Amino acid sequence: MCQRANGRLDFLPLRRLPTVRQEPVSAMPASHASPSRERAAIRSVSLLLFVGLPLMTASSGAGQTPPQLGGASLDEVIGAMTVEEKVSLLVGMGMNLPFDIPGLPRPSPEDRAVPEKVPGAAGRTHAIERLGIPSITLADGPAGIRIDPTREGDARTYHATAFPVATLLSSSWDPALAETVGAAIGRQVREYGADVLLAPGMNLHRNPLGGRNFEYYSEDPLLNGRMAAGFVNGVESEGVGTSLKHFAVNSQEFNRLKSNSIVGQRALRELYLRGFEIAVKEAQPWTVMSAYNLVNGTYAPQDRDLLTTILRDEWGFEGFVMTDWFAGDDPVAMMRAGNDVIMPGGVQQSAAIVAAVGSDELSEAQLEAEEAHRPPGNILMPAPPIPEMETEAALIRGAAARADVGLYSLGRNSGEGGDRGVEGDFDLTVAEVALIRDLSQGFRAEGKPFVVVLNVAGVTEVAGWRDAADAILLAWQPGQEAGNAIADVLSGAVNPSGKLPMSFPAQYTDVPSSRTFPGQVLPEYADQEQPAGFMAMLNPLPSQAVYEEGIFVGYRYYDTFDVEPAYPFGYGLSYTTFEYGDLELSEARFGGEITARVMVTNTGDVPGREVVQLYVSAPRGSLVKPEAELRAFAKTRLLQPGESQTLAFTLDGRSLASFDPDRSAWIAEAGEYEVRAAASSRDTRVRARFAVPETLVVEEAHDVMGPEVEIDLLRPTYD
Ligand code: GLC
Repeated sequence: MCQRANGRLDFLPLRRLPTVRQEPVSAMPASHASPSRERAAIRSVSLLLFVGLPLMTASSGAGQTPPQLGGASLDEVIGAMTVEEKVSLLVGMGMNLPFDIPGLPRPSPEDRAVPEKVPGAAGRTHAIERLGIPSITLADGPAGIRIDPTREGDARTYHATAFPVATLLSSSWDPALAETVGAAIGRQVREYGADVLLAPGMNLHRNPLGGRNFEYYSEDPLLNGRMAAGFVNGVESEGVGTSLKHFAVNSQEFNRLKSNSIVGQRALRELYLRGFEIAVKEAQPWTVMSAYNLVNGTYAPQDRDLLTTILRDEWGFEGFVMTDWFAGDDPVAMMRAGNDVIMPGGVQQSAAIVAAVGSDELSEAQLEAEEAHRPPGNILMPAPPIPEMETEAALIRGAAARADVGLYSLGRNSGEGGDRGVEGDFDLTVAEVALIRDLSQGFRAEGKPFVVVLNVAGVTEVAGWRDAADAILLAWQPGQEAGNAIADVLSGAVNPSGKLPMSFPAQYTDVPSSRTFPGQVLPEYADQEQPAGFMAMLNPLPSQAVYEEGIFVGYRYYDTFDVEPAYPFGYGLSYTTFEYGDLELSEARFGGEITARVMVTNTGDVPGREVVQLYVSAPRGSLVKPEAELRAFAKTRLLQPGESQTLAFTLDGRSLASFDPDRSAWIAEAGEYEVRAAASSRDTRVRARFAVPETLVVEEAHDVMGPEVEIDLLRPTYD
């Protein structure tokens, strides 16, 4: 570990470490706020996994003061650990539920007696006091730290700020903004005494009904990865950690603890892993959280191809992997897969690992963890929506006479453990549409505008009623500054510059995965009653979701199969207008890298920012391709009326490549490519073309994580 000039601490690469660099870990203050202490502890967790549990035994002689983290080298500290101490770093201290539940991994009485450093945090690791290794506190979540606001015996309060949800953040298409928000959250995480923020959530929006889409960024992997990287860099600039989650293909909440995501290697690589790959390579997060679900038949926390071959060997991830809470069913398999820490952890899992080490069974992942029951009650599932109220015509007339503008806010929520529905959720209720139309009529009768504010957790149907609205403001879930932010936009104090990070389909059945989402209970369990509500999450029936649409998710589908969305990916309005100059390419023949430049001018009469999206349309070749794919994007600074800015984009081999499962490689096929500078996936402003003279093998990968079954993949039929 070494301290860099920029104040960031480095991890040594883990698991591939032939030797451990001997820099002494710099002396660290005792307080919990000293991130380097936590980072050292985090690294020691991972290092010990590299050096192998059984290989080293406590080496500090009797009577000697054992080496201390922060004073001695990490190797000396790890060398002084007993096997039990090593295992204690790999299994969390458990959740202090008010009661034990048979079969659920639970804390030992000793662990339960250790007061929580940060009450309300999601989990923590064991300290090893004699070696100066502190406990690491892990706290949710993507929209701000989630902890108890008060602590016993402490007069201070610990109220957290409710920040905008991830989908709103990604609507800015501004990774720098994500970094700013991340830093603000990181400061609270550090000041409130936690060490790792369990965020960002960054699973792909495969389907608009995904229960946790609000916590995730986009249907497009590039936007997803860039926003996540910005967020991670922001949080970690404050000396605390993050956790990319949920790795991987956790695209539905339906039976998530036992749902098998069956996905082809191409869609896996190009869509579901690609965002994580970008975030790991651009931000090197301290940790990654493996997902609950299985991917092509293997639990994510137990999949060595996912957590070691791809995450570490191919992408160079240097931190540690933790499970999602109570995920998986085999703690020893997790260790072997490269899942370093089991959360929240329990005595049974520690015992299982120690036993496996003692009887040298660790290499045979035979141990079965107690398929665990789940704690009753799930605070994470949203309350059902409140039915729309009846509104008399007189009330509407009165409001329309008094107010300048009619405002209707449509609310939708969603959460963990369950996906959204179509009726009354994605689709508006009859009462909601009727009220929108009545209000519209009332205000328009007075010659006044009527605005609908979407205060929603995810995509909703808009095509059937938007003619009644003079404007629709998509506010998503902005957190505690919602009112001020909405008022600033509606009053014109702020000129909005957001763009959709996912498509708004005209109707749910247009969604390519609507046929298979959220998955089905496995046939052999089909005769069993599907538990409802909490039990559906806590103790689900084994299920599967077949990703038949393959790479054709979101705009990749709508634009290739010519299905008109209500609002396309990348769409967003401004109070001003922008003009694009010519799109200039640095060369007409691809030689490894091409720079594209375009000048953007504010042609309106108020200041504004524009998000320029660069889509590339590839020639037809051996691999079917979407009509076009987002390959770069950039946001202008605030341009005054008449002001221009030239944006430059770099396209490299990976910007053109598709993953070819037959060759286990990223391939850019020969032919004519078209580059489009656009204001949305369906609003190309300027184009340019270049040639790739010969097919390029851009990058090779391991042939891993292929589906166990043949998937009848969706394919476009070219005329
Ligand atoms: C949950 C979530 C995960 C969260 C963790 C700790 O079940 O899936 O996002 O970080 O448990 O609360």
